Amino acid sequence: MIGRVSGKVVAITGAASGLGEATARLMHAEGALVLLADIQDERGQQVAEELGERARYVHCDVTSESEVADVVDTSVSAFGRLDCMFNNAGIIGAHGPIDEIPLDEYEFTMAVLLRSVFLGMKHAARVMKPQRSGVILSTSSVGGLQGGLGTHIYGAAKGAIVALTKNVAAELGAWSIRVNAIAPGKILTPMNAAAVVGSADAMDQAREAFQTRTPLRGRIGMPDDIAHAALWLASDDAGFVSGQTVVVDGGLTTGSQENVAPGEHGRWASRRDLLREAGRSGLPTEADV
Ligand SMILES: NC(=O)c1ccc[n+]([C@@H]2O[C@H](COP(=O)([O-])OP(=O)(O)OC[C@H]3O[C@@H](n4cnc5c(N)ncnc54)[C@H](O)[C@@H]3O)[C@@H](O)[C@H]2O)c1
Repeated sequence: MIGRVSGKVVAITGAASGLGEATARLMHAEGALVLLADIQDERGQQVAEELGERARYVHCDVTSESEVADVVDTSVSAFGRLDCMFNNAGIIGAHGPIDEIPLDEYEFTMAVLLRSVFLGMKHAARVMKPQRSGVILSTSSVGGLQGGLGTHIYGAAKGAIVALTKNVAAELGAWSIRVNAIAPGKILTPMNAAAVVGSADAMDQAREAFQTRTPLRGRIGMPDDIAHAALWLASDDAGFVSGQTVVVDGGLTTGSQENVAPGEHGRWASRRDLLREAGRSGLPTEADV
């Protein structure tokens, strides 16, 4: 079959659920050989079995260097090479006011969200440099780009992924390896259902809650929205894109006139007067001079 990533070998962490699972399914449908990695072994194994040929599951806790190294090595031993490493596994982690966050929760959150990405980049580069090709993708978040959209440590880790992506892209370009990140907005996944309505299984309730939180009318963010961004970045269509963080958030961080104070609804967009200095309206007239 001819797909957008036909014959490419793609390893995805956090592939048993949410964005990682959707990306594994889409990449596979587009012709990739996919290695799914996660700590939810039963779910991950099940997804790999559903995909069948060209898919495999491997256990990997992304905080462990040897287990991340094993994902990369398994890609090479099972499928012959590694074309795309997608560092995607994540949690929300520590939450609460800054003066109350326990140090061990900070350390754990940073290990799952940031150390994991460092390890994924490090070991992917180990095999991609000799290939002189490859794509490294990582999942950041709008919470890493703007304040107030996530918890503190989550935002810090996700912001650091943006910086790490740029720096590693600056190095690996010399080996024709592209390094990019994706910053999703609010996407309907078990992780976000847990955050928004308190249960990873309450997807229907979460869907309702999301309707009012997306600026793009009639639309909520779905895992496939991120999978399509990952597919594009992994494919040769994005062959000249490196060091970037692609924001996929339905316009959330762009801002929305829907989000102004009550009564201000649409005020600026529907204002017809040409407003100029000192609040005067219309074009200057002779009387102004
Ligand atoms: N859902 C959103 O709205 C959203 C927004 C921005 C960023 N993200 C990021 O997207 C990524 C995927 O999240 P999701 O929403 O699909 O959540 P999810 O809970 O559906 O999936 C996350 C997966 O990561 C796995 N995982 C957790 N800890 C792990 C570890 N130590 N080692 C290996 N795997 C581990 C989980 O088992 C799970 O399968 C995360 O990095 C998250 O921060 C999600």
